[in-house]
Amino acid sequence: MGLKNNNSEYGSLARALHWLVAIGLFVLIYLGLEQGGMERGDERSRIRFIHASIAAITLMLMTIRVVWRFMNEVPAKPDGMPAWQSTVSSLVHWGLYITVFAQLFAGAMVVGTGGKGIPVFGLFTIPLPVTENHDAHEWWEEVHEFAWKPLAALIIVHILGALYNHFIAKNDVVRRMMIGVK
Ligand code: HEM
Ligand code: HEM
Repeated sequence: MGLKNNNSEYGSLARALHWLVAIGLFVLIYLGLEQGGMERGDERSRIRFIHASIAAITLMLMTIRVVWRFMNEVPAKPDGMPAWQSTVSSLVHWGLYITVFAQLFAGAMVVGTGGKGIPVFGLFTIPLPVTENHDAHEWWEEVHEFAWKPLAALIIVHILGALYNHFIAKNDVVRRMMIGVK
């Protein structure tokens, strides 16, 4: 398997980015909800700090991923896949890209309108070109508390699609996104 994609499978970079981003998103949703139920205090601040740091790295990985996607061929849908499944699969993929970026953007706006930058594990802070604004802060908080839901719904449909293709349609699509599987 090469670094780049070809017509029949994803290359190693696309696979690595897919799984790193997937792990990042699961952890982000978990930590986001975890801190949501907490009182103000050190523990909540610590979780938010980790949440924002992982989000910053996820944003970086997603940016590389999209650039890489446009520099590459996208593997063709498997032979014999009904046209509607092929369409739904592409719509879900684009929906995932859009909701991930929307959620990342909203999160950054929550922090920016709160007058802060995005911490990256204490190594440095990414400054945001946004002025502190209480009303905007509350609005972006609402957006951020909402937008992970359509994202999570798409992730569920996506996983169900992968399971369907692997176990029922018995085609190649899961194998060609896996790492270390022949
Ligand atoms: C795709 C990436 C992201 C996901 C999946 C995600 C997920 C979540 C979730 C599920 C919550 C809890 C919302 C609730 O209480 O209902 C949350 C809260 C929060 N997130 Fe994110 N987040 C992401 C990116 C970011 C980014 C980039 C930042 C900023 C650096 C950020 C900062 C925050 C903050 C400050 C909160 C607490 C604010 C609030 O209560 O609304 N998040 N996040
Ligand atoms: C356990 C979780 C997951 C499984 C089993 C899974 C499985 C797969 C598989 C098998 C493919 C290849 C489809 C094909 O060859 O046509 C794929 C592609 C893709 N996955 Fe996932 N995935 C998971 C999580 C995620 C998450 C959390 C995201 C959120 C961003 C995501 C976004 C995508 C995208 C956008 C593609 C299309 C890649 C492209 O051509 O740009 N996946 N996934």
